[in-house]
Amino acid sequence: KRKIIIDTDPGQDDAVAILLALASPDEIEVLGITAVAGNVPLTLTEKNARIVCELAGMPLTRVFAGCDSPLKRSLVTAEHVHGKTGLDGPVLPDPIMPLQDQHAVDFIIETLRSEPAGSITLCPLGPLTNIATAFKNAPDTIEKVCEIVLMGGAYFEVGNITPTAEFNIYVDPEAADIVFRAGVPIVVMPLDVTHKALVTPERNNAFRAIGNKVGIAVAEMTEFFERYDKEKYGSIGAPLHDPCVTAYLIRPEIFSGRHINVEIETSSPLTMGMTVADWWRVTNRPANATFIKEIDTDAFFALLTERLARL
Ligand code: BDR
Ligand code: CA
Repeated sequence: KRKIIIDTDPGQDDAVAILLALASPDEIEVLGITAVAGNVPLTLTEKNARIVCELAGMPLTRVFAGCDSPLKRSLVTAEHVHGKTGLDGPVLPDPIMPLQDQHAVDFIIETLRSEPAGSITLCPLGPLTNIATAFKNAPDTIEKVCEIVLMGGAYFEVGNITPTAEFNIYVDPEAADIVFRAGVPIVVMPLDVTHKALVTPERNNAFRAIGNKVGIAVAEMTEFFERYDKEKYGSIGAPLHDPCVTAYLIRPEIFSGRHINVEIETSSPLTMGMTVADWWRVTNRPANATFIKEIDTDAFFALLTERLARL
């Protein structure tokens, strides 16, 4: 069973990723959820994280607020995709559960220090600001991390916020650079795989047909979220980017990719935040990440629907 910290900027797809983790206690123990600024500002992402925990019926989950802006840049947000609240679509009540007092970065550091080496998996679903700040402030924690499984980047699918950059990496490329150089085992879910995890009308009907509060809310979230991708990419439905991360923790065998070198562009204005992935191994640069490219989409949606029905 994996002990995880979910670092997130909800976001409808973040919400589904969190719900999948909370619905899977046999495989995953969620030690805490750390919010970061990304899709929307921090005050909304931490609130949305609590809304999602309450939707799951798990108000005792600890939610921490972290960094409100990237390491060296001004925050870029994505209301054009996720709506004004970040979680547009369903009407969900304001959360009653409290936000923890501790800063998310301190929680990450304290948790990594207090657990045996190799026992905690970090699951970043947004810009990497909190994780990079923890690694910068407490380098001793880096070797304690078991693995980082993150959503971010793109190679063959190039970009979704600039022609060459994916949103999470673009928002804080310096943070991503720190994380990709840290020497921790990394599994990356880039757009190359997440653009295959599309919610078709049939799959959305299956969420709704679960009939519980969660299934209906998820159907309403993806109905909102799909507008952007349908208009922009002519996509058949919403891409469930972030749930690829939590699905990987439960069923790694439904994903495949390559262990390769991935580096982050932090200086060229034209390609800022690009994940330069040596997919064809044309350099001698050391492999630092497993870059996922394929997914068994039917197995992924079957897992998701089955788990959401448990909440
Ligand atoms: C990523 O950016 C956000 O908009 C999504 O939540 C996802 O984490 C996709 O590029
Ligand atoms: Ca996200």
